[in-house]
Amino acid sequence: MPVDLSFHYNCQDCRINSRLLQRRAGALLRECRIADHGLSILMVDDQEISWLNDHYRHKNGPTNVLSFPFADGADSSLSMLPVKELGDIVISVDTALREAKEFNQSLHDRLTWLITHGLLHLLGYDHELSDTDAIIMQDKEQELLTKLQHSRSTAMTHLAINVDHIATIRQARGGVEPDPVTAAAICEMAGATGIVVHLREDRRHIQDRDVRLLRQTVKTKLNLEMGANKEIISIALDLKPDMVTLVPEKRQELTTEGGLDVTSQKKMLAKTIDKMRKAGIPVSLFVDPDTRQIKAAHEIGATFVEIHTGRYCDATSEKSREQEFQTIAAIAEEAYQIGLRVYAGHGLSYQTTARIAALDTIEELSIGHAIIARAAFTGLDQAVRDMLAIVQEAGRIS
Ligand code: PXP
Repeated sequence: MPVDLSFHYNCQDCRINSRLLQRRAGALLRECRIADHGLSILMVDDQEISWLNDHYRHKNGPTNVLSFPFADGADSSLSMLPVKELGDIVISVDTALREAKEFNQSLHDRLTWLITHGLLHLLGYDHELSDTDAIIMQDKEQELLTKLQHSRSTAMTHLAINVDHIATIRQARGGVEPDPVTAAAICEMAGATGIVVHLREDRRHIQDRDVRLLRQTVKTKLNLEMGANKEIISIALDLKPDMVTLVPEKRQELTTEGGLDVTSQKKMLAKTIDKMRKAGIPVSLFVDPDTRQIKAAHEIGATFVEIHTGRYCDATSEKSREQEFQTIAAIAEEAYQIGLRVYAGHGLSYQTTARIAALDTIEELSIGHAIIARAAFTGLDQAVRDMLAIVQEAGRIS
């Protein structure tokens, strides 16, 4: 049964990784041996939880979490139905943010604690009954959270596909085929969860017409990769993709060569992020696996970082590849812990993707060249499915 996670919270700036929380809630259900039950989690603000607190518990003001067991207070015959529903956990994100600060925890860890607490209430634990009940509930909470730390991930990392090089082939003859818009649809039908295109200043592959059509046709998520230059910013603000990824862009380069130096361009990047935020477009910054870049990205209000995997993929010895991998793992953890949502990409191949996909902190991979290159021999649908199989398997065994 799925964990349903929904928001009555204005999440425009919100750095909550829903997939990670769903995965943690799913792991908690498995630990409690009730994975066949449905659970609903609703994120609200202080105002809404205050209303619920007053209406159902006659208590004033906001609280952090409320639990409503299925059929509690409703028609009692509902409890006779053969439906395996645990009920609803309602969490105030405003209060969770305050508590995370107070207890020096990441927001995700605080929300995980609140989900655990709420779940135990749904299961009949109640710390308010007596001191003994409080100790029993606290012990159970601790036991579940410890197990959660060691539990294995089962959710799949998302795979977004960069279709720039379909356009590169088209531009080689300056004609109309192959069309990246058709390619995007094939990728989505094969299971991709997002489409990425880089509208470069020199329009060497993706054209304005492509992004306009993709905005209308992409059903999953359109991520517009772009340099932070005036013309492209204005196109993005007009187009309103689902998100943008800011990258450094040089005319002479073959492909994006390194991550953004966020530390030296904080002011300009913060301004761009602000413009995007006002237009409702979340921003990701493409950065090298470097702690200073992560901190700077967080400081200027990025929602996501995409960690550059190029050095790991290009490593020529096992030892250096291992070092690069460990750096990515540590930096992804750090970014995740300070509340950034973490993507990764560049240079990932059918050989190098599995280890990155197995990292629990990385939500999505952005892969282009390897898939388009394989597609020349196997067809695009098969090339996407082959990569998805690797990503899926990595999630199962990590
Ligand atoms: N992420 C970013 C920011 C990129 O610039 C690119 C290349 O366009 C990719 C991911 C995909 O890299 P590759 O084509 O090597 O898979």
